[in-house]
Amino acid sequence: MSAVINAPVFADVPVREFQPGPAGTQITIRGLTKYFAGWPLYEDFNLDIPKHKIVSVFGPNGCGKSTLINMIAGLVPIDAGEILFDGKSLKDTKIGYVFQNYREAMFPWMRTIDNIAYPLKLEGRSKAEVDRRMAELVASFDVKFDLNRYPYELSGGQQQTASIMRALANNPEVLFLDEPFSALDFEMTLFIREKLQEVFMQTGTTMLLVSHDLEEAVYLADQVLLLTKRPTRVAEILPYNDVRPRTVDTLSEPGFISTKKLSLEIFQSEVRR
Ligand SMILES: Nc1ncnc2c1ncn2[C@@H]1O[C@H](COP(=O)(O)OP(=O)(O)OP(=O)(O)O)[C@@H](O)[C@H]1O
Ligand SMILES: [Mg+2]
Repeated sequence: MSAVINAPVFADVPVREFQPGPAGTQITIRGLTKYFAGWPLYEDFNLDIPKHKIVSVFGPNGCGKSTLINMIAGLVPIDAGEILFDGKSLKDTKIGYVFQNYREAMFPWMRTIDNIAYPLKLEGRSKAEVDRRMAELVASFDVKFDLNRYPYELSGGQQQTASIMRALANNPEVLFLDEPFSALDFEMTLFIREKLQEVFMQTGTTMLLVSHDLEEAVYLADQVLLLTKRPTRVAEILPYNDVRPRTVDTLSEPGFISTKKLSLEIFQSEVRR
């Protein structure tokens, strides 16, 4: 009987070297693969997310927008691939995350101020450091409500403001936001959108924003990342370079209108595919 050599299953798959992104890349995603219940959501997905920019993620329902940012943020495990932050792993990177549902995002037994300071306390910061950072945050968000109240005593917009403050408390390199405005009324949406833009202009924090509102996605973005239906690929990355701060006048600027139109055309062709 001749000997059978059991070759490893992946013997023929060449080992690919990690290809870094271009200069100025914050997040590099290579060969990302994710299956749910045997069905591919992402297969060999590659993406470079630039540093100090806001990238809006837009795509058909269920294409994996939330899963994508959750995999990058380490909240959902990946099946294969590599995600690096400026060459580092997630554990060596400070990130912040703003959840869609602000009602479930805060610890209800802690006063709002303690919720916001929580990431600083986790880092073991001294009381003086915590107080200094809290004062900075209060000034930069121009907070008019009482942070000594419990989250459930605040309005939705105030709670979402507080959760954004908490996400930014320890100066993260990357801020993830999954539909942060979708549970807010129109007035609060406008308010928080402007706050986010102000914070971005002050700090340059890289932001990855999932939005189901195309106008909002383009308004805040330096890049609009358009995704396909699953198995999900990048349909297009549209740059949008209008000056900041963007204002109500931005909405009638030719660059804004054309970026929105092009995004919509790409989205529609993906949905109809
Ligand atoms: N834990 C899970 N188990 C099984 N399937 C899942 C799980 N999480 C997500 N999915 C599936 O993966 C796909 C992508 O989900 P995801 O929530 O990332 O999409 P999305 O683009 O954020 O959708 P929406 O536009 O509704 O917010 C969907 O088909 C969803 O049903
Ligand atoms: Mg989602």
